This record gives sequence, structure tokens and C-alpha cells, in this order.
Amino acid sequence: MFSMRKGNQYLTLYLASCLFFISNCQSTSSTSSKHHCLPDQSSALLLLKQEFEEGMSSEPVVYYPGNYPKMKSWKAKVDCCSWDGVTCNNKTGQVVGLNLGNSWLSGILNPNSSLFSLHHLQKLNLSMNGFIFSTIPSSFSQLVRLSHLDLSYSNFTGQIPSEISWLTKLISLDLSNFDLHLKGKDLEAISKNMTNMRELHLDHVNISSSVPQALVNLSSLTSLSLSDCSLFGEFPRNVFLLPKLQAIVLSRNVLLIGFLPEFPSRSSLRVLDLYSTNFSGKLPNSFGNLESLNVLNLHNASFSGELPNSIGHIEPLNFLDLDYNHFSGQIPSSIGNLSQLTSLSLSFNNFNGQPPSTLGNLAKLNFISLQSINLHGKIPSFLNNLTQLEFLYLSYNNFEGGFPTSLTNLTKLREIYISRCQLKGPIPSEISTLPQLYTFDLSDNSLSGAIPSLLFTMPSLEKLRLDQNQLTAPLKFKNISSSPLWVLSLGGNALGKMELKIFFDLKHLLYLDLSVFSTLDLIGYYYMSKNYHMPASYWVNAHWTQASSFFYSAHIVHGFLLQESKSLK
Ligand SMILES: *[C@@H]1O[C@H](CO)[C@@H](O)[C@H](O)[C@H]1NC(C)=O
Ligand SMILES: *[C@@H]1O[C@H](CO)[C@@H](O)[C@H](O)[C@H]1NC(C)=O
Ligand SMILES: *[C@@H]1O[C@H](CO)[C@@H](O)[C@H](O)[C@H]1NC(C)=O
Ligand SMILES: *[C@@H]1O[C@H](CO)[C@@H](O)[C@H](O)[C@H]1NC(C)=O
Ligand SMILES: *[C@@H]1O[C@H](CO)[C@@H](O)[C@H](O)[C@H]1NC(C)=O
Ligand SMILES: *[C@@H]1O[C@H](CO)[C@@H](O)[C@H](O)[C@H]1NC(C)=O
Ligand SMILES: *[C@@H]1O[C@H](CO)[C@@H](O)[C@H](O)[C@H]1NC(C)=O
Ligand SMILES: *[C@@H]1O[C@H](CO)[C@@H](O)[C@H](O)[C@H]1NC(C)=O
Ligand SMILES: *[C@@H]1O[C@H](CO)[C@@H](O)[C@H](O)[C@H]1NC(C)=O
Ligand SMILES: *[C@@H]1O[C@H](CO)[C@@H](O)[C@H](O)[C@H]1NC(C)=O
Ligand SMILES: *[C@@H]1O[C@H](CO)[C@@H](O)[C@H](O)[C@H]1NC(C)=O
Ligand SMILES: *[C@@H]1O[C@H](CO)[C@@H](O)[C@H](O)[C@H]1NC(C)=O
Repeated sequence: MFSMRKGNQYLTLYLASCLFFISNCQSTSSTSSKHHCLPDQSSALLLLKQEFEEGMSSEPVVYYPGNYPKMKSWKAKVDCCSWDGVTCNNKTGQVVGLNLGNSWLSGILNPNSSLFSLHHLQKLNLSMNGFIFSTIPSSFSQLVRLSHLDLSYSNFTGQIPSEISWLTKLISLDLSNFDLHLKGKDLEAISKNMTNMRELHLDHVNISSSVPQALVNLSSLTSLSLSDCSLFGEFPRNVFLLPKLQAIVLSRNVLLIGFLPEFPSRSSLRVLDLYSTNFSGKLPNSFGNLESLNVLNLHNASFSGELPNSIGHIEPLNFLDLDYNHFSGQIPSSIGNLSQLTSLSLSFNNFNGQPPSTLGNLAKLNFISLQSINLHGKIPSFLNNLTQLEFLYLSYNNFEGGFPTSLTNLTKLREIYISRCQLKGPIPSEISTLPQLYTFDLSDNSLSGAIPSLLFTMPSLEKLRLDQNQLTAPLKFKNISSSPLWVLSLGGNALGKMELKIFFDLKHLLYLDLSVFSTLDLIGYYYMSKNYHMPASYWVNAHWTQASSFFYSAHIVHGFLLQESKSLK
């Protein structure tokens, strides 16, 4: 026993020295001119390691690839140029790159940290660490050779020091963080000083200012991301015309005003994201010149006018979201040319007329949302073509006719929302053949007939909302105990007499709505309440439907009815 252990120790030592030797051999043989780490660089790095030693012993909450304490492996006797995350200049041996992104650094980064003595650093990545809400030291301005600096999501807080703008060689700067502030004048200084800037990412940094005109001069800019920065005023329109720009994200700046320019041909823009801004005006006719665009997100802005036909020229478009604007006129049939589209959202606009049947050509569509856009007539038959569809949102329209059985051919459907649409007739029981259906919402229509009992045996259906129709109770309930339903809303129907006890078999039910317009008989309640007394901690708050002045409802936990009858007035 004892000797075996000793043997193992020897083996470990032997292997370790082998590995050390091999790696030494390799590095000297393959690149014989390679310089080793300079002693001052090595000791600066080891001091940096010491500064954060304590934090590294605790483990991060979330694990994913690339997430480990890179500094742990740094050893004094090993050439620092071979340390994890360290890059040296081939010729001089100076440390020029330090990639400690996602490396469990935890603690305060002091202004006197030995990091700031690594004057040759060109690339520095400290993103996704935990600097326990300390401020960004102005000492960063000493690293004058920096071309790349990433301090994103590292739990820094407070004001970003003005001295950052002295780093005139920066071509990539990411300070995205939830708790930082940047002065408007410092953003201007950054824009004026860092003339070679390619990537500027300041998401969630509270800037609370207008956007400096100087951004227009950053002619090398490829990616600009200023999401959720509390920006206001008018965005300088010519930024969109920067020749190398590939991504521009200005989302979540609700006070930011702006307009799109006419776009020249062969624009390199791939991502245009103006989600929740106050950009307005029309999409220009030249919009189709954005021939590289993959992602267009204009959700919740203030655009109006007709969509230009040219939008159908943007062949690579994959994601198109125009929800919550004031677009009007016909939906152009050219949208049917966007064969790469996987997600199409046109909801809550003022379109009129029917959507063009060419949408049936969008064979890759996985998500379609056409809510509240004045649709009438039958549910469009082009939908039958969309065999990849998982999410179908058609609520708040004025359809005539029934729920088309043909939709049950779209076997990938996971969510169907067609509420408030004046649908008539029965719910086809074929719905129960959809193996992945998770949400089925046909509330507030004029549907009639019996609720298909097969809905209660579907393997994936968790949310079923059929309230405010003229449906009658299911004819028979059988084998419903394996149903994963936890939201069941049947109020405002013509259910007739029916024992509540029936629902107790739904083991996962948390929310049952049987509001006042239903004539449900409550025999079951009294029976159950006499026999079961659940501890208060098991109670779950219902999400009350407030459609009526008072209603009956029920809280059900683990299949047991606990309370019903509540009056609101
Ligand atoms: C080392 O220098 C050579 C030639 O200058 C270059 O090709 C190589 O990419 C450099 N290696 C590193 C790691 O910088
Ligand atoms: C910095 O490191 C993080 C985490 O490893 C990585 O996600 C990010 O892309 C890196 N930043 C840059 C600019 O390469
Ligand atoms: C660096 O600053 C911190 C906090 O001000 C201080 O505690 C520490 O002793 C300083 N370290 C050195 C090496 O000066
Ligand atoms: C940063 O702070 C948030 C809380 O605001 C915390 O959830 C997260 O774990 C912190 N990240 C790190 C890397 O410490
Ligand atoms: C630009 O950088 C220089 C140092 O390189 C600095 O002196 C100057 O103040 C900076 N300009 C602005 C507007 O910050
Ligand atoms: C941003 O900072 C300003 C003060 O500079 C403050 O009034 C505002 O509430 C902050 N915005 C957010 C979203 O935190
Ligand atoms: C842009 O650069 C030009 C020439 O370098 C300069 O004249 C102009 O003032 C700059 N514009 C802004 C807004 O900084
Ligand atoms: C959006 O901008 C317009 C002026 O262009 C203004 O009338 C409107 O109030 C703004 N809306 C918001 C939410 O700021
Ligand atoms: C839409 O924009 C308004 C301001 O115009 C904002 O209050 C609201 O939160 C935004 N909604 C979403 C879903 O982003
Ligand atoms: C759409 O494609 C058809 C051919 O499939 C073509 O004739 C038409 O010009 C295209 N429309 C647009 C706007 O790209
Ligand atoms: C359905 O797709 C086929 C090609 O897959 C196409 O020929 C047909 O026109 C489409 N139907 C509709 C209604 O869009
Ligand atoms: C459903 O698909 C089958 C074959 O896949 C087809 O025969 C049938 O006509 C389709 N039903 C409807 C209503 O489209």
C-alpha cells in the first residue's frame, strides 16, 4: 500500500519532468529564434497573479468552455511566454497580449496594479471577471500601445475615467457593463482621438447624452454597439454610411431620435438593430441596397409609410422584425423572395389588405408573427407551405371562418396564438396530433362545439387557453393524468354541468380559470375542501383574469383544489 503510493508519486514526478522537457525541446527546436520572457515581465505577471490569488480559489457559478482560472497554471520557473493567456513579441520577448477573459479574477483592480507596468501590451482582455464593483482605474491610460481593450461584463462600476480617451491606438474597445457611466464629452473624445477605431461596444453603459457628430469620422468602423445607453437627441445619420460598417446596434435607447439615409449600393451592413428607439420616417427606396443584411430589427420604433418593394432584394436576410411601428399600405409581395428568412414579424402595424401569398415560398420560416395587422377573411392558406414553422402568432385580427384543419400538417408547431380573431366553428380534434405543441391559445373567438378531449392527452401541451368562446365541455375525459398541462383557461364558455373533480387528475395544473360567464357547477369544490387541508406554503397565486367584475376561479396545487370564488369590485 505504502510503496504503491510512493511509486505513484515517482511516476507523477517522472511524467511531469518529461512533459516539461518535451515542451522545452519543442519550443527550442521548432522556433530556435524565439525569445523567452523577460524577467521584469515575468515578475509583473506573477505579481498580478498574487493580487487575484484569493479570488481564484472560489469557483464560478456557471461553467462553460473557456471558463477557468488561466493564471493558476502560471509558474515562476516556466517561460512566461508559454503561460496560458500570455502572448509575447517574437523578437523582444515583451508581453504584448494578455487574454484573461473569463478567468475567475475576483477582487479590486487597484490603480497601482502590476498590470499597468506591462507597457508593451497591445491586446488586453479582462472581460467576464468579477472586479467586485470597483471603478476602472485611470491607470489604463499608461498602456499607450493598446490596440484592443475588452473590459466587458466584469462588474466594474462608476464613472469610466476620461483618460481612456488617451489610448489613441485603440482599434477595438469594449466597455459593455451594467453599472458604468460614461460622460458624453468622453464619448466625443473617444470618437475624436481613436481615429482607427474598428469596434466600439459600450452596451448598457449609461451615457445619458446625445451622440457626438465625431462618430462620423471613424471611417474604419466595422461594428458599433450602443444598446441601452440612455442616449437622446438625433443620431448622426451619416454613421450608417461609413464604408466598412457591418453592424450597428442602437437598441433600447427609447429617446434616441433618428432617420435612415438613402443607402448606396453594395453596403456592407449585416446587422441593423434599432429595437426600442424613436427612429422614424420611412424606409428609403434604396433600402434594398443593403444587400449583405442578415438581421433587421426595427421592433418598437416609430417608422411609418409603406415598405419599399426593394426590401425583397436583400437575399441574405434571415431575421426581420418590424413589430410595433406605424407601417401602412400593402405588405410587398417581394418579401416572398427572402428565401433565407427564418423569422418574420410584422405585428402591430397599420398594414391593410391580405398578406401576399408569396410568403408561402419562405420555406425556412420558423417564426411568423402577423398579429393586429387588420387581417380578415380566412386564415391564409400559404401557411400550409411553411413546414418548418414552430411559432405561429396571428392574434388580434378579424378572420372569418374556422380554424383550418390543414394547419395540423405543420408538425413542428410549438406555439399557436390565434386569440381575439372571431374564429367560428369547432376546434378540430386533429390538433392533438401535433407532437410538439406547447401553447395553444384560441381565447376570445366565437368557437363552438365540444372541446376535443384529446387535447388533454397531448404529450407536450402545457398551456391551453380557450376562454371566451361558446365551447361546451369535453364529451369524455380519459387518461389525462399524464398531461403536462399547467395553465388551463376555459372560462366564459358554455361548459354546462361538470364536476370540478375531473381536473384533479391534471397533476401539473397550477392555474385554472373558469370565469363568471361559464356555468360550471362547483359540486367538486365543497367535496375537496372538506377532505384536504394543504399547508399555506403550497398555495400558489393565480393570475386572475380581470375581464369581468367578478368571477369564480380556483387555485389548484398538486391536483388539489384549495380555494375558489373571489369577487373583485
Ligand atoms: C512570430 O514572428 C513570425 C515572423 O515575424 C510570425 O509569422 C509569427 O506569427 C509570430 N508569432 C507570434 C506568436 O507572434
Ligand atoms: C475576451 O474574452 C471573452 C471571454 O473569453 C471572449 O468572449 C471575448 O470574445 C474576448 N474579447 C475579444 C475582443 O476577443
Ligand atoms: C496598491 O494600492 C493598494 C490600495 O490603495 C494598497 O493597499 C497597496 O499596498 C498598494 N500596493 C503597492 C505595491 O503599492
Ligand atoms: C457580476 O455581478 C452580478 C450581479 O450584479 C453577479 O450575478 C455576477 O455573478 C457577477 N459576475 C462575476 C463574474 O462576478
Ligand atoms: C487625445 O489623446 C491625447 C494623448 O494622446 C490627450 O492628450 C488628449 O487629451 C486626448 N484628447 C481628448 C479630447 O481626450
Ligand atoms: C443614467 O444616469 C443618469 C444620471 O447621469 C440618471 O439620471 C439615469 O437615471 C441613469 N439611467 C439609467 C437607466 O440608469
Ligand atoms: C472630421 O474630420 C475632419 C477632417 O479631419 C474635421 O475637419 C472635422 O471637424 C471632423 N468632424 C468632427 C465632427 O469631428
Ligand atoms: C419620438 O420623437 C417624436 C419626434 O420625432 C416625438 O414627437 C415623440 O414624442 C417621441 N416619442 C418618444 C416616446 O420619445
Ligand atoms: C417600446 O418603447 C417604449 C418607448 O417608446 C418603451 O416605453 C417600451 O418599454 C418599449 N417596449 C418594449 C417591449 O421594448
Ligand atoms: C422576386 O423574385 C422574382 C423571381 O422569383 C423576380 O421576378 C422579382 O423581380 C423579385 N422581386 C424582387 C423585389 O426582388
Ligand atoms: C408552396 O411552395 C411551393 C414550392 O415549394 C410553391 O410552388 C407554391 O407556390 C407555394 N404555395 C404558396 C401558396 O405559396
Ligand atoms: C396534409 O399533408 C398530406 C400529405 O403530407 C396531404 O395529403 C394533405 O392534403 C394535407 N392536408 C392538408 C389539409 O393540407
